Amino acid sequence: MRTAILASGRGSNLQALIKAYQSGSLPIRIVAVGSDSPGAGALMRAEEAGIPSRVFSINQYLHRQAQEADILNWMGENEVELLLLAGYMRVLSPSFMREVPFPILNIHPSLLPAFPGLHAQRQALEYGVKVSGCTVHFVDEGLDSGPIILQEAVPVLHEDTEESLSQRILAVEHRLYPEAVRLLALGQVKRSGRRVQILQQEE
Ligand code: GRF
Repeated sequence: MRTAILASGRGSNLQALIKAYQSGSLPIRIVAVGSDSPGAGALMRAEEAGIPSRVFSINQYLHRQAQEADILNWMGENEVELLLLAGYMRVLSPSFMREVPFPILNIHPSLLPAFPGLHAQRQALEYGVKVSGCTVHFVDEGLDSGPIILQEAVPVLHEDTEESLSQRILAVEHRLYPEAVRLLALGQVKRSGRRVQILQQEE
């Protein structure tokens, strides 16, 4: 499966995906990395891995539609069949979603539908939950609202800061995201409406 990744920031999830891909444990091919931020650490990581990258800085464009049109063309040129968002900080527009005929996945640092949007770990601490976690889900037109593929719980400790909780969740993200991608690429993720079933591999 020819795969593109969009990332805005440091790119640790991108790194985890690249690592799994390079080790041969992911039946995908990461063909392109894109970012809306020229200074993103994710771009350096792509370069180190020898994966071509492109910047779609929002400042280059008059309208968001023009930026998204370039992303669509870039995916077309690269014959992309799967798009992974890895800390991509922009919500994709409904028209972009309609144009994309293949799955788009995202990872979010909470047990959705709790704490969507920005600063999910801070929201969890402020709410006082005892358990949070992370979610890999299909992207739909809403904010962190698409059908859920995998989730894993992470305990929230009394002494946690936003930083310490984020780090504990991040360690799980780095395992969960490649696992979800692996299952999808193997055809073991079956979606029907909002319900997603993980099919067991045949012996
Ligand atoms: C992660 O916490 C991810 O769940 C969220 O954005 C953060 C990205 O971190 N969507 P990184 O850039 O992958 O290190």
